[in-house]
Amino acid sequence: MNSERTRVLTGITTTGTPHLGNYVGAIRPTVQASRNAATEGFYFLADYHALIKCDEPARIQRSTLEIAASWIAAGLDPNVVTFYRQSDVPQIPELTWLLTCVTGKGVLNRAHAYKAATDKNHAAGHDTDADVSAGLFMYPVLMGADILMFKAHKVPVGRDQIQHIEMARDMAASFNHLYGEHFVLPEAVVEESVALLPGLDGRKMSKSYDNTIPLFSPSAQMRKQINAIVTDSRAPGEPKSTEGSALFQIYQAFASAEETQQMAQAFADGIAWGDAKQQVFERIDREIAPMRATYEDLMQHPDKVERMLQLGAEKALERSAPFMRELHHAVGLRSLASQAQVKTEKTSKTAAPSFKQYREKDGQFYFKLVSPEGEVLLQSKGFTSPRDAGLAIAQLTTHGASALDALQAQMEVISPPARNKVLENLRFMHLISDK
Ligand code: TRP
Repeated sequence: MNSERTRVLTGITTTGTPHLGNYVGAIRPTVQASRNAATEGFYFLADYHALIKCDEPARIQRSTLEIAASWIAAGLDPNVVTFYRQSDVPQIPELTWLLTCVTGKGVLNRAHAYKAATDKNHAAGHDTDADVSAGLFMYPVLMGADILMFKAHKVPVGRDQIQHIEMARDMAASFNHLYGEHFVLPEAVVEESVALLPGLDGRKMSKSYDNTIPLFSPSAQMRKQINAIVTDSRAPGEPKSTEGSALFQIYQAFASAEETQQMAQAFADGIAWGDAKQQVFERIDREIAPMRATYEDLMQHPDKVERMLQLGAEKALERSAPFMRELHHAVGLRSLASQAQVKTEKTSKTAAPSFKQYREKDGQFYFKLVSPEGEVLLQSKGFTSPRDAGLAIAQLTTHGASALDALQAQMEVISPPARNKVLENLRFMHLISDK
């Protein structure tokens, strides 16, 4: 048995002020998960990522403080988890470069954030890359470095980030193939049960819609903002629908099942909007108020937050510094002082896996997938034509797991661990193939 704890890692870009949507969707569930003793948590402030979309130094500094103070006030314990600032770990940008060199440019062309920017340019009749920084283009590689640096197993993220985790896996697989097993292949964790909080106008609460309620505004201000949540014009005494009511959904994200049930009843009984809003405010404030004091104290004493982040940086560097030395050695960035180290390695290590096609005495056409080390990973049964065998190979390299399932009957049986190895090799071949 492996006694190693599961490493969970996630980053928060430091461009905004945390709002109730961030709290319900990320901060609260993450802080809860961070208390699981079977996991080891890495939580960091992605301030290098912030530079991609923000060129206001004061805003980045302010946001870094607000986000750090929010997470700590919400219960994240820097003595239990590793809580750090990305820019305090110089090995992260260093690793970004190593990964840049094993990532296909075409892969980055297909990254959602970059594609959205170029699609927008096309639609507006502008040059493909107008106003697109190379930073935006490289965003997934920096994120890959964040994740792979600490050998994270699980990465809790929103839906929109899944593609980035898959890219990080591909980078890890391709580096491992070239240089040996150094990286852990991470997995995205998308919490389906976490509520998406609506904002003041009923759309998803998001800074880009300007409809947010800050997590830690003073209580009087929070009350005002809750009063500004849109409702319909039903008068007191008229039954109200919970369906599609932003107010109700926000309440539900904070209330117990029983409280929610009571609120639904009050809606049916025609509670006045003003009274409902008062109850929603009170329920949220009950949860937030105890944290508010800590938050305000930390905002008044940024040096306290700085000390916590320095502690986090120390813990992070204990991992990242030796690991980076290992990686330098692996790729050949090595000291020349010791003659013994200056040697030529067999090239088989850096060879790619390959498919071998052949015809047997039975007149049928076969193929096998051979690892760089010469191990047969996958063996086909006989095909009647070389074309069919070739098609199956093409399916496998482009579609991976789903093709492997579809072609099961035409393959010799493989064990689950062997299957993983096959998929890893297929992913690698897909990555280096020209598309
Ligand atoms: N890109 C993430 C976001 O916008 C933030 C982030 C940066 C991140 N690096 C990460 C998340 C590494 C998880 C792991 O939400």
